[in-house]
This record gives sequence, structure tokens and C-alpha cells, in this order.
Amino acid sequence: MCGIVGYVGERPCKELLLAGLERLEYRGYDSAGICLLNGDVAITRRVGRVDALREAVGDALHPATTGLAHTRWATHGGVTESNAHPVEACEGSGVTVVHNGIIENYVGLRRDLAGAGHEFHTDTDSEVIAHLVESQYSGDLVEAVRLAYAQLHGHFAFAVLHRDHADEIVAARRQCPLVVGVGEGEMFMASAIPAFLRETRRVQYVMDDEIVVARPDGATFLDPRGTVIERPVEDVDWDDDAAEKQGYETFMLKEILEQPQAIADTIGERLYHGELQLDGLNLSEEQIRGLSRVVILACGTAYHAGLIGRYLLEEWARLPAESDIASEWRYRHPVIDEHSLVIAVSQSGETIDTLAAMKEARDHGAHVLAVTNIMGSQMTRDADSVLYTRAGLEIGVAASKTFTAQVTLMYLLALKLGLVRGTIATERAAKLLAEVRSLPDLAQRTLDRIDAVEPVAERFWQNEFFLYLGRYIGLPIALEGALKLKEISYIPTDAYAAGEMKHGPIALLDESTPVVVVATDNHVYEKVISNVEEVRARGAHVIAVATDGNEDIKQVAEHVFYLPRTEPELQAALAILPLQQLAYGIARRRGLDIDKPRNLAKTVTVE
Ligand code: F6R
Repeated sequence: MCGIVGYVGERPCKELLLAGLERLEYRGYDSAGICLLNGDVAITRRVGRVDALREAVGDALHPATTGLAHTRWATHGGVTESNAHPVEACEGSGVTVVHNGIIENYVGLRRDLAGAGHEFHTDTDSEVIAHLVESQYSGDLVEAVRLAYAQLHGHFAFAVLHRDHADEIVAARRQCPLVVGVGEGEMFMASAIPAFLRETRRVQYVMDDEIVVARPDGATFLDPRGTVIERPVEDVDWDDDAAEKQGYETFMLKEILEQPQAIADTIGERLYHGELQLDGLNLSEEQIRGLSRVVILACGTAYHAGLIGRYLLEEWARLPAESDIASEWRYRHPVIDEHSLVIAVSQSGETIDTLAAMKEARDHGAHVLAVTNIMGSQMTRDADSVLYTRAGLEIGVAASKTFTAQVTLMYLLALKLGLVRGTIATERAAKLLAEVRSLPDLAQRTLDRIDAVEPVAERFWQNEFFLYLGRYIGLPIALEGALKLKEISYIPTDAYAAGEMKHGPIALLDESTPVVVVATDNHVYEKVISNVEEVRARGAHVIAVATDGNEDIKQVAEHVFYLPRTEPELQAALAILPLQQLAYGIARRRGLDIDKPRNLAKTVTVE
């Protein structure tokens, strides 16, 4: 997730672009850059926030009236000045690009382009776009972009400037956002409307698989074959605050709805044409085969993702696996050695207990793998290897999209270890990989079923206690669903292994208690239903999460949230979605500050 801003018009654009970047900084803030077109292309890039870029370009007026700017959320290539955008093609080519998203086939394209003599200067996937445009260019920039675009796989938005096309920005998008701001004799282009909202409220939306050419007098939209498409100009009436949330009432809602994209980005090029590649894992096949156990350490929501990882690693990689709360594990006397893999999971990469647990693990000689969403965070510096979730910036304090991104990464990791260790049949792995590929789509279909969730939120929002139950991979989902509800609605919840309920929590049940049960199709389904019967016998109200086609469950549950059918293990990534929506619907009805729940902090840097 990065932010793109472009301007073409009559005004000097440096300040307009910087102001636009500041409005988009929530999209990524590890580095920023600007490119001003004035006879030649002047590029400035800086690691850090937009402030650092502002200081580097200075106060002096720059005459350029065409330019592009970018704020980066690194996915491919470390956080360095050379990896910041805009990126250039070969020296002297005059081609400059800013990019958001992931080019899944960049490895092959880079190899081919390098073979044809192109010199690469960065570690990014973005740079292949610049070289592709350069290789296709013979005087017509729009045609060069169209031909380059056709060779790209993945999801992305990018914009291109060419030294010899002074009044033109050519851009394209597939799945990542891009919008045009329409002014008088000037046009803006951006990843999101807030970038230009102070200048114009008239917009044209770039749709999927479209190329757009912005010139001072207007924008032209083309389909991939080059046919012109008419696009109406629309007015937006958002205020500034709403604009940052892109029209959503809260960041959390926006982030809940961004989960298909977060999952897709986390998979990205790691799974391409059925091949699973985890660059960054940094373990040889021999080391993977030599592992004796895996320990997953984390806090809060990340701990719940780790619990899912534990089941997957046991099942697919046949490794003894445990998952523990970092603040507990660090004070035990853990039995680990150099054949242990310790996986530390953290959205922020800065949680002090997780960092301390990592240190303990390294002191015992274990290989420590960090799974985090934040490039350059402390965790990435302390680990032996790093795999990034790519959920983009999460602003809502209660985690949502980072959780599903972590679970997605657990799928990829457990499958990789299983394949290398030969503990998962090739056919089964291929089936699972294909299903992982379709997870973004399944997640979208799950989120689209909000109509089933809202009546339940309406019925129970005034209740003062909820119990959550699950078994096997349903247990971490019950724990996470309960955590979401208590965090944002302040309703006390308990979450339990369904089989444990009769050993205590059953005493809490009466005719008013809503009980949320994760009852997706898997080998423990029948057992879960027995526990549901125990709940019903106490007069409590059962709300079940179940798999499409399971009509029987309606006989024991008053409400059912159905999930699209997929492999049993993969249901975990879907089952949390209605539970997030339920927590959200209840908190909204209670009129609470959902993005900033009381007493909580997004990053916990104290013990
Ligand atoms: C819950 C939540 C927290 C975090 C926990 C760990 O919604 O966000 O429980 O999961 O504080 O934080 P990270 O993942 O940054 O280590």
C-alpha cells in the first residue's frame, strides 16, 4: 500500500504534490519521493516521512507544472533511498514511474529485461514497469504504457511521466485504487481523493483494467485494447476527516472491508502459477528438514493468528508446534535449541514482550523468524529472517486486516515447510495452494453477507455478556471474535474451547446469554454440535458460524453466519470476518469511539 499523487496543469506543482502526499501519508510512511518535469526530470527521494522530503526539496519555487509524487509502504526491497519512488528506467530514457501494489511476475520480467540490456538500480518490483515502458516506447507514451501494462500480472496502480511529454501523465490500474481530480485547466491523479480534495471536489474514477491519460484540459480513459471509454465527472461532498477514511465512518470499518486486498497482497507473487516461494524465509531446505520443533510467540490478536499457525504446522509440516503468549513464554525456562524455529508474529513489529521473547529465543540458539506488517520495525532488525504481511497501514486500534494477513502468511509458511519436508502429499498441497489463491475472492464473498450479521447485532447489542466457543481452528477464531467484541464494545466476553465449557463457563449461561459458536465443517464438527446442544439446554441463544450448505445447523442455532465452502483449515481466515462485523455492529449501536477504544494503544512498547 503506497500513495500516488500527480499533477498536470498551469500552476507550479511542487507544493501541491507535497500537500497531497501529506494527506496520503497514512498509506505508507517509510520513504517518499517527488519528480518534477521541467525540460528534464528532477527527482528527489528520501527515507522517512514526507517532512524529510519537504526539507530535501527546500522552499524555493520550482517552475515545473507537471509532476508525480509517492509515499512508500515497502513490500519489495528494503527501506532505502534508492528503493523509494519515483523509479527510473535506464539512464537517459526519460521514463519515471510511481507504483502502488505488487507485480507478481516481476522476477521473470526483470530477468528478461536485464537480458535485453536494461540496467536495474533498485530491488523493487516497480522498476520493471519503468523498463517495460522504456522498451515499448517509440514516441507514443500512451501506447508504450498500454503495451507494458499488458505484460504485468498482479494488482497495481502506476503512473508514468516522460521527459518528452511535458503535459501528460499516463497511468493504469488493476485492483489498486486510482482516481482523477478535475480542475480548471489542471488535472490531479491520486490513490485517494484526500490528496486533492482541497483543490477540487470533482472526480473521475479510474476503473479496473483501465489506462488513463491526464492532460491539463482533461482526462482520457482507455480499455486495454486502446478503445476510448466515456467517464462521467462526479462531485464528492466529503469533509476532510471523512475523506481520509474514504467515505467510511471509521478506519476500522474501512480496514475490515480491505481484508480481501490484504490477503491478496500477502499472497502476491509468493504464489505464482502454483509455485510457492517465500523469499525472506532465509532457511535452507536442509535446515527446514532438520527442524525439531516450532514455537510461535506473539501477543493479543497476533497470538490468535499464531494459534492457527500451530495447527497448520502440525498438520501440514508434521512439526511439533506450540504457540504461546510472548509475555508468558519469556519468563518460562523454554526448552529450545538451534534446531528450533521461533516465529514471532506482530503487526507493529515493536511490541516489547514479543521483542524480549525473540531475544530469549536467539540466546538459546534458535532461528528466529519475524512475521510483521511494518518494514524496518525493531523486530525486523532483531530477527534472523523476516516475512512481511502486506496488509497496509492499519489505523483502527483493534486489529482486523492484519489478523487475516497473518493467518494467510501462516498458510503459506506451513505449506512451504510441509512441501520441503515431504510431509504433505503434492496433490493435497496443490489443492490447498489453489484454495489459498482464491481466498481474497472467498473473503469478499463472506464480507458481502453483512445482511446476515446486522439483525444479530440489532438483537443483542444491549446484552451484557457474550460467550464464544470453538474447537480446533475454530478455537482461535472464537478467542479473536471475543477479543474484538470486548475491545470495541466494552462488553465482557469469555472464549473457551467448546469441550471445556462444561468444566466451568457453563455456569454463566442463562436464558439471556448469546453464545457465538464456530461450527465450520471439519473433523470436530459433530463434537461442536454436541456442545451447542449443551448450550441450548440452558436456554442460551446460539449464533453459529457454519459452512454453506449446512442446513441442519438451523435446527440448533437461532442465527447462522454462512461461509463459502473451502478446505477446512482455510475456513479460519473467513470465519473471523462475520465476527468482526458483529463486534463492529454492536459497538456502533452503543455509540462508542471504535477507532480508539479506551485504554488501548496501537503499539504496546511497555511490558
Ligand atoms: C487487538 C490488538 C492487540 C495486538 C497486540 C499485539 O485488536 O490489536 O491485541 O494484537 O497488542 O500487537 P502487535 O501485533 O503489534 O505485536
